[in-house]
Amino acid sequence: MAIIVCPKCEKKHTVNLDTIKENAVPGKNIAARCKSCGHKFPVALDDLFAQDKEQPLAESKSAIRRICVTLSKGGVGKTTTSVNLSAGLALAGHKVLLVDTDTQGQSSYILGTKPRAGLTELLTKELSPEECIIRARKNLWLLSGGKSLAGVKRIIDRKSFGAEWTMSEALKGLDHRYDYVIIDTAPGWDQLIVNVLFYATEVLVPVALEVMPLQGLAEFMKSLGSIQKYRKEIVLKYIVPTFMDTRVKGPQAIYTQLKKLYPEYICTPIRYSESLSEAPSYGKSIFEFAPGSTASADYRELVKTVTQDNRAALF
Ligand SMILES: Nc1ncnc2c1ncn2[C@@H]1O[C@H](COP(=O)(O)OP(=O)(O)OP(=O)(O)O)[C@@H](O)[C@H]1O
Ligand SMILES: [Mg+2]
Repeated sequence: MAIIVCPKCEKKHTVNLDTIKENAVPGKNIAARCKSCGHKFPVALDDLFAQDKEQPLAESKSAIRRICVTLSKGGVGKTTTSVNLSAGLALAGHKVLLVDTDTQGQSSYILGTKPRAGLTELLTKELSPEECIIRARKNLWLLSGGKSLAGVKRIIDRKSFGAEWTMSEALKGLDHRYDYVIIDTAPGWDQLIVNVLFYATEVLVPVALEVMPLQGLAEFMKSLGSIQKYRKEIVLKYIVPTFMDTRVKGPQAIYTQLKKLYPEYICTPIRYSESLSEAPSYGKSIFEFAPGSTASADYRELVKTVTQDNRAALF
């Protein structure tokens, strides 16, 4: 089985490859017609059969994935990774909700949007989800953070029981509309981060190769372990080395050490790139600001790792 997404109406269709295998010529396109909107479009046969090999479970394609991007240490690339991973997943055709749980509220700034409401209003139930979530790009929606989240933290702190489920309760009713929910977190460790870890099922940890990061990572693993005692579903999935500077030896040595310590989690590093620090002031993702840059290639690689889909390289 493989899935074809109509480029016009974005409807997903399941195709039984056995029915086209006999006449299939490698490297050629077939003409497809969307059963929903009637749009005709070409589909590369090689991509279809590659999909079949990589994703034997058709249902996993539509199962929602909740990935939080977190590490207590500040300035390691959490927000940069959350925004660009979300933008990349959206470009690859997935429906993405980016949730910013930081009082700095940088995600909306990076995406060049000015939402009037966001996560605060959703958690306090002041406004409906439709009023809180804004469409930032094609396939990409944003539940923005900001200063007002400080008040929400106080409300959560004052709850006498079930405080850690506040975010899950607010999001679970609406997240089934998306393929991915990506959650950016603030530095440090507080009730809001505990809430995120009670909602998400996968953890992505960006680790800056600029400074000795191992202690911060070990401390975070301990904190995650303490959450896992109460919530088994949350697992570490990805460690993403960031600020990789290939010109100097230090980052390379740290990367080698990380690979030895955590071989099952380590992803291809995101290289140091001026474009990544410039893109936010233009309100653009790296794919819009510098599509040909090394940073764009690195985040595209991360999208491929997360989706386990080599076709993601096509966007
Ligand atoms: N690979 C990179 N190369 C160069 N600059 C980068 C890279 N990744 C992130 N930056 C820049 O480094 C700074 C910190 O990154 P970012 O805000 O993503 O970190 P953070 O972990 O979210 O920080 P905080 O803990 O304060 O939320 C930003 O100015 C960002 O533009
Ligand atoms: Mg941040």
